Amino acid sequence: MAFATRHFVRTAASSSAAATAAAKKLVVKHVTVIGGGLMGAGIAQVAAASGHTVVLVDQSDEILKKSTKGIEESLKRVTKKKFADKPEAGAEFIEKTLKNLSTSTDAVAVVHSTDLVIEAIVENQEIKNELFKRLDKFAPEHTIFASNTSSLQITQLANSTTRQDRFGGLHFFNPVPMMKLVEVIKTPMTSQKTFESLVDFSKAVGKSPVSCKDTPGFIVNRLLVPYMMEAVRLFERGDASKEDIDVAMKLGAGYPMGPFELLDYVGLDTSKYIIDGWHSLEPNNPLFAPSPLLNKLVQEKKLGKKTGEGFYKYK
Ligand code: NAI
Repeated sequence: MAFATRHFVRTAASSSAAATAAAKKLVVKHVTVIGGGLMGAGIAQVAAASGHTVVLVDQSDEILKKSTKGIEESLKRVTKKKFADKPEAGAEFIEKTLKNLSTSTDAVAVVHSTDLVIEAIVENQEIKNELFKRLDKFAPEHTIFASNTSSLQITQLANSTTRQDRFGGLHFFNPVPMMKLVEVIKTPMTSQKTFESLVDFSKAVGKSPVSCKDTPGFIVNRLLVPYMMEAVRLFERGDASKEDIDVAMKLGAGYPMGPFELLDYVGLDTSKYIIDGWHSLEPNNPLFAPSPLLNKLVQEKKLGKKTGEGFYKYK
């Protein structure tokens, strides 16, 4: 009954609240990050460190304990650099940041008081759609939804909700506390106010936002993934060794890592997943053509650094 009453009140108030939301740029204070893995933990960390109150959500307390431990360790590393001469200020910074951060296994229960939901769960369209659809029913009208997806269409995720105008992409980079870039993705339905709120939030967490339409790979991956695939094809044809290709791009182009080192770092399964997805969208685009060698390595579970072997061995 309590739920029904709340639902009725919200529905009755929804049209005027929606009008207000459309008129005002939102200053984000309360953030819910869904997914406490590699990316979600990093996003929660930078949001909490910059004074936002953050609830980090994942499927179990065990996962969340691991996420929190990772955040604490990362904060110590950041603090060592940032407050090298002032250990007391460093300790205060860590304490303040952790005070801003809490965890939950119940996304529905925490979104009622949030300004911004950032989703960083498993890269699966159906699972993400199901999550957004559910949260859409419980989040306040003004709440902006954002996805950190690398390869899925933001528009399709937005379409699982009724707040397409308050939905955008916030694409952070790994490792989040170190990487300065955020790609802010505007779909044809994202309102200008929502877009500006996401840009402001990105700046508030200390990042440099760039804007991109909802196009496969946005800016960075659209350029980077075909470049890495072209390196694999160069190697597959026997034109050059992978070692020489890596040396060439580091010394000749000034890249910090060669394409094979980068593929191993990102994970060959992740790279294959991205290229296969784009290939199915645009089968005739040669930039998105799959690679037999990459497919073979993934089939053999040689996924890169995380499994001890990819293009290189790490054991
Ligand atoms: P991850 O596998 O490290 O973490 C995903 C987390 O989501 C896991 O802890 C899992 O338990 C949790 N999760 C799954 N379903 C859930 C649900 N329904 N509710 C709550 N939690 C749930 O994945 P990672 O690498 O952090 O990636 C997350 C997202 O970020 C993906 O969309 C990925 O494409 C994107 N991304 C990844 C980057 C990377 O370098 N790994 C870079 C930029 C974006």
